[in-house]
Amino acid sequence: MLTKAGSFGGTALVEHVQNLKPEIKQLTLFPSEMCNYRCSFCHIWGETGWALKEPQRAIREQLDIDVLKRFLHDVTEENKNLSVIVTGGEPMLYKHFTELVEYLRSRKANIYLLTNGSLIKKQVQFIMENIVAMNISIDGPEEFHDSIRGKGSFKTICENIDALIEEKRRRKKMFPFINITMVLSKYNYHSIKDFLGALRERFKDANVVLHDSKNPWLKRRDLSVNFAPLLFTTQERGLAYAEQMKEHLNCDVSAGWQGFVEEDIGIDTLALKKDLEEIWDSEGVDTSSFVDIHEYFTDIDNVFGRTKCVAPWHEMVIRRTGEVYPCVDLPDYKYGNIYENTFQEMWEGERATSFREYLKTTNLMMCNRCTRMFADKESY
Ligand SMILES: C[S@@+](CC[C@H](N)C(=O)[O-])C[C@H]1O[C@@H](n2cnc3c(N)ncnc32)[C@H](O)[C@@H]1O
Ligand code: SF4
Repeated sequence: MLTKAGSFGGTALVEHVQNLKPEIKQLTLFPSEMCNYRCSFCHIWGETGWALKEPQRAIREQLDIDVLKRFLHDVTEENKNLSVIVTGGEPMLYKHFTELVEYLRSRKANIYLLTNGSLIKKQVQFIMENIVAMNISIDGPEEFHDSIRGKGSFKTICENIDALIEEKRRRKKMFPFINITMVLSKYNYHSIKDFLGALRERFKDANVVLHDSKNPWLKRRDLSVNFAPLLFTTQERGLAYAEQMKEHLNCDVSAGWQGFVEEDIGIDTLALKKDLEEIWDSEGVDTSSFVDIHEYFTDIDNVFGRTKCVAPWHEMVIRRTGEVYPCVDLPDYKYGNIYENTFQEMWEGERATSFREYLKTTNLMMCNRCTRMFADKESY
């Protein structure tokens, strides 16, 4: 669940950002954006997603592993304890997936995998040895999940998770942590009260708990479950964002923002709020820092004290084309390209500096419902 800023929000956060110095902590890699699923709500491959609008030949493009390794070498020289999120599309479809992960491990990076879970089984041993945490998407009990992600996918993913849990037990290992993410959307919010029960029924011997944002690495559990509200925008906001980017940053935006447009969120947000409260109550979860889900969906101006995004000071995003961006879901303001530019050139370059300066005083119209606005305190 997304959390409010708490004491380190509002003006304190605005002031904090004024004094931030660039320090790379995290990379997000989209080495391939291909996907074997077509999830209805997905901002990439879903009903309003941008990937279907792109030439399909271009979207099959994958990052050259040698160029990527050279770049990663430089970043891991700068930060010897780098966090790397490998995502996509489906990251395990990247043809150099194992080589990439092995290289990152040899450079002591901590690797977090965001995956639809469909391709895990053949890689269980490899995952055990190399991945710190797996974020696996399951979007509700079987019938809801399958109607969003494709018939039979719930069964496949659960079998793959079985294999992973079994191997963790056999080796008596804590890693990789397995987190299930359910994105709350109009397609599945009705099922939320049945979700934990369905998982506990399916994984009878496993310890299934709700994700605890205060203590995400809680030891005693096999699976943690995180409810992630849909990220969304309106057409009006998206157009204002495009205009803002052009006028203030001289940037022509991609179709990325269009993948988030939801004119009608299609959720009875008060009913969802009530259901969530009942779940948290019965699970004994402290909800004091959680955002109000009704306000999240009905008042897009409310940022819950999350007045500033710190991502551009600590993170970079590399897409399948080699292009490098500050923003995880918006391939718009480009720092450069790893085929042509070094890490230092981009991280310390004029474009990154101008972007950070702009963000010190102004938020982008798309920031309000971006995951990075709600980042953990450690990213500050
Ligand atoms: C884009 S996917 C990539 C990794 C992998 N394919 C998967 O499905 O987990 C990363 C996460 O974004 C979520 N996602 C996709 N569209 C979203 C949206 N509009 N709002 C919130 N989360 C979204 C997915 O459900 C998934 O948990
Ligand atoms: S599996 Fe992931 S990337 Fe693929 S369509 Fe679903 S949410 Fe999008």
